[in-house]
Amino acid sequence: MHLLSLLLAAGSASFVLAQPLTEVNQRAAGKLQFVGINEAGPEFGEGKIPGRLGTDYTWPDLSSISTFVNKGYNTFRVNILMERLVPNQMTGSLDAAYLTNLTQTVDGITKLGAYAMIVPHNYGRYNGAIITSTQDFATFWKTLAAKFKDNEKVIFDTNNEFHDESSTLVAELNQAAINAIRSVGATSQYITVEGNAWTGAWTWTTTQGTDGKTNSQTMGTLTDSVKNKLIYQMHQYLDSDGSGTSSTCVSRTIGSERLKAATTWLRENKKIGLIGEFAGAVNPDCEAAVKDMLAFIAKNSDVWAGAVWWAAGPWWGNYMFSVEPKDGVAYSTYADLIASYA
Ligand SMILES: *[C@@H]1O[C@H](CO)[C@@H](O)[C@H](O)[C@H]1NC(C)=O
Repeated sequence: MHLLSLLLAAGSASFVLAQPLTEVNQRAAGKLQFVGINEAGPEFGEGKIPGRLGTDYTWPDLSSISTFVNKGYNTFRVNILMERLVPNQMTGSLDAAYLTNLTQTVDGITKLGAYAMIVPHNYGRYNGAIITSTQDFATFWKTLAAKFKDNEKVIFDTNNEFHDESSTLVAELNQAAINAIRSVGATSQYITVEGNAWTGAWTWTTTQGTDGKTNSQTMGTLTDSVKNKLIYQMHQYLDSDGSGTSSTCVSRTIGSERLKAATTWLRENKKIGLIGEFAGAVNPDCEAAVKDMLAFIAKNSDVWAGAVWWAAGPWWGNYMFSVEPKDGVAYSTYADLIASYA
């Protein structure tokens, strides 16, 4: 444990002891395998393809990431765009400059001892069209995974938030990606798969895709030739429509309520889950709701491997969820709270 974290932990001991006993017990037991932050920037300027580095998009700040690592964070979800990495067509070759910056970012993170989760922030679309070819998607993943196959601290996240499409197709795309990644020799890495309906935990068992099927009906059959390295990534926000666009949280217990059905599904299907995006604004209700949800995740750590906050990154300005160390408005409220699960 880093010295600063030790001092902070010591300083907060009297506060913790003043809490009800059950909460203390949960937190004492509650450590998570993956405690992380989304790093946004390389996917900014979505409408500007390819866009200009420094004008339309940017890369995460490694000194900010180092600040988080020193607090105990071990996972950074690096948001990229497929159209910038592999321009013109999904089956094409890598853009050298974008790949260089991605590699610098990934290597920078993993040299700090943390996981770098690479996620095409594409919503299951390429150039605005729903990806329907499992073969082309597999080719994309072979191209990308081959570059990072020797770095076991990389995590491959198949795609960010599929939505408004066939859930059967989403599962098939995920299976194609898993097979493609393993086929190029990337066998030491974790893979996280995402579902339809914005991969929402709260709607995992209820929202149907255009084929009338839920994620719970289509995603359970995925297979991986590597043992225990497949993780189901779900997202969970706390506002009324679950989109993470409002600063108002529904209630102080909405997080744990929204995770219940997915938790049961994971357990019954012997799967491991990860909350790859969550956040609350800075106000007493949201703060209590974030605490409640993290406590629930930790209490159910037999099926939940971790939680990754949305978001940090150099260009957020006064965005309500930003935990970027130098100017993030949510940093002082949430950075140490999340780190306490590491
Ligand atoms: C991106 O890579 C270029 C070299 O191609 C380098 O000059 C630049 O500093 C990198 N930018 C960032 C933000 O990492």
